[in-house]
Amino acid sequence: MTRLELRDVRKSFGALEVLAGISLDVRAGEFVSILGPSGAGKSTLFQLLTGALKGEGSMRFDGAPLDGARFAFMPQRDALMPWRRVIDNATLGLEVQGMKRRAARERVAPLFAEFGLAGFERAWPAELSGGMRQRAALLRTVVQQRDMLLLDEPFGALDALTRAAMQRWLEGMWQSHRWTALLITHDVREAVLLSDRIYVLSARPARVVREVAVPLPRPRTESAALAREAAAIEAGILDTLLGQPPIRVPDHPMEN
Ligand SMILES: Nc1ncnc2c1ncn2[C@@H]1O[C@H](COP(=O)(O)OP(=O)(O)OP(=O)(O)O)[C@@H](O)[C@H]1O
Ligand SMILES: [Mg+2]
Repeated sequence: MTRLELRDVRKSFGALEVLAGISLDVRAGEFVSILGPSGAGKSTLFQLLTGALKGEGSMRFDGAPLDGARFAFMPQRDALMPWRRVIDNATLGLEVQGMKRRAARERVAPLFAEFGLAGFERAWPAELSGGMRQRAALLRTVVQQRDMLLLDEPFGALDALTRAAMQRWLEGMWQSHRWTALLITHDVREAVLLSDRIYVLSARPARVVREVAVPLPRPRTESAALAREAAAIEAGILDTLLGQPPIRVPDHPMEN
C-alpha cells in the first residue's frame, strides 16, 4: 500500500531552482532512501514534507493532501537541545504533541536500554558520545509513533567506525519495528545496507535520475556473499552519481 506519494514537487528560493520536479512513493513498512550530492535539495524536500516550507506539486499521504504533522522528523543538525537532560530531550516530541511530561517520561524510559542509553537518562547531551547523541535523537523521533519517520543524515557527523556500528544497529531496530521510513544520506553504502529502495537525485536542481530496488535479504551485515551483491549495487549507483552510464546491475522488481 502506498503511503507517501510525491508528484512533480518543485521548489525555488528566488532565482535558485532547488527541486526540479521530484516524484516518489513510499509504501507501508518500507525503508526508502534519498541519495544525492551535497546541496542537491534533500533537506529542502524534508522541509516541504514537514510543512516548514511551501513548494509546488502534489504531496499526498494515504491518498489525502499531506499534513506534515503526521511525520516524526529527525533534523540534520542540532537534533538535541543542550540545556535539556537526555530524558527531557527524548520526551520533547511527545510534549510538543501535548503529552504531559510525566506520561512522556513513562513512555520513553523503557526504550533507553534498547537504544544503548541505559543509565544516561539524567545526563546532559554534552556528556554523551556522538553515537549516543544520535541514538538519543532517534529515540526522540521514533517514540512519537507517527505514520512515518523522516531521517536527515542521522549518522552524517559520525566517524566511520561509529557510523558502521550505528548502521548495523538501525538495521536491527528497523527489522524488529518495521517503521515506514524515508532516509536522506549521501553515503551509498549506507543507503544499500538499510533500504528497500533508493531514489538517486541529480545535483541541483534535483531530479530523480534513478530508482534502485535493493532486493537483498536481511540482515545484510552478516554474509560475505551478500556483501558482494551489495557492492555491485553500490558500484552501479556511484556510476549514476558520477554521471557515467550505469554498469549492468540486475534490477529485481520489488514485490508489492
Ligand atoms: N531557506 C533557504 N533560503 C535560501 N536558499 C536555501 C534555503 N534552504 C536551502 N537553500 C539552498 O537550497 C540548496 C539545497 O539545500 P539543501 O539543504 O536542501 O541541500 P542538501 O541536499 O540537504 O545538502 P547536504 O547534503 O549538504 O545536506 C542549497 O543551494 C541551499 O543554499
Ligand atoms: Mg541536507
